[in-house]
Amino acid sequence: MAEKIKIAVLVSGGGTNLQALIDAQESGILVSGRIVAVISSKPGAYALERAKKAGIDAVTVSRKDCRDLKEFESGIVNAIESHGAEVIILAGFMSILSEDFTGRYSNRIINVHPALIPSFCGKGYYGLKVHEEALKKGVKVSGATVHLVNEICDGGEILAQRAVDVHDGDTPETLQKRIMEQAEWKLLPEAAEKLCRRILNEQKPETPSFTLRKWELSDAGELAGIIGKIDRKYLTGRIPDPYTEKDAERFITEMAQKGEAENTGIFYGIVVDGKAAGNISVEKSGDLRSGVGVIGYCLIPEFYGRGIMTEAVKMICAEAFEKLDISRIEGTIFEPNIGSRRVLEKAGFELEGVLKDAFYKYGKLYNEYVYGLTKGDQNGHL
Ligand code: GAR
Repeated sequence: MAEKIKIAVLVSGGGTNLQALIDAQESGILVSGRIVAVISSKPGAYALERAKKAGIDAVTVSRKDCRDLKEFESGIVNAIESHGAEVIILAGFMSILSEDFTGRYSNRIINVHPALIPSFCGKGYYGLKVHEEALKKGVKVSGATVHLVNEICDGGEILAQRAVDVHDGDTPETLQKRIMEQAEWKLLPEAAEKLCRRILNEQKPETPSFTLRKWELSDAGELAGIIGKIDRKYLTGRIPDPYTEKDAERFITEMAQKGEAENTGIFYGIVVDGKAAGNISVEKSGDLRSGVGVIGYCLIPEFYGRGIMTEAVKMICAEAFEKLDISRIEGTIFEPNIGSRRVLEKAGFELEGVLKDAFYKYGKLYNEYVYGLTKGDQNGHL
């Protein structure tokens, strides 16, 4: 397999679930992903030892030494980002994460909970406490659940669940052990594999045939249609919302056609199966730096994950280096837009710097990532 999804495992304790993931990696159950970092909220947690023994980077971001949740989470984000992890597994992680955090990694975080959700879950239900409550209630079966993590504690989509019998005379400890052995240690690696495989499949290698087409004034309606469909969540662009046909006409005549005529930019529509699906451009930088081009692009979500954008980026960069009298191309990406960062990385761009708190969206400041490509360094299409 070409590439594996990088995984960060968040822990707070003994780390038997982490061990199950490490073992699954070795036995070939977890093959679509690879654990690149273990991050503990508690200094000295035994899980850290397990990571070190397996040769995995172990990092501590101590919850109690952080002033607040924000500082704690930004420590975790730094550790995740510096390892390039895309999937986050909570394996006995005893802190509740904020909506900011879960939103940033939406559909990319899974958790194992030691009960059959929606029973014995939510705030306050963690570790042995869950089993104490189950025994108090007198349930005859309990079990474990692996679920996606969203802003509701233990409330995300259920990915896997397994029931385990409660025995007469069980203590919280004996019940915990049985649930771990029979359910958690099996379900968690299986679910991790499923999620990683799903992400790899989203990035299907075969790229459908597409063409790049110069924008004509008669395309204004189509262009306005594309901008209406793209995922604004990821747009740092300073483009009008809503985007009307008039806006599209202005873009085509004042930017695209003018740029082409004056040799200061290249602008294309991306056409897939005869349908306009996106927009891509490289323009000479408007500031005083000479020899730098700036890349921008968008694609409607139904065409995500199929390699179209990576190929289109390679093509336009090759053409821009040839025609625009530039030796570098830069792209600035909104930090949570991991898909877009991957596009540039696959096209041969290098991460050159992070603009801290550069972009304000949804009442929050986000970093922007600056990528650069030097003439001659691009992958293919030279
Ligand atoms: C596990 O039982 C896990 O399901 C639970 O904590 C234990 C950690 O064990 N998680 C929660 O309660 C999360 N709310 P481990 O450190 O040996 O994996």
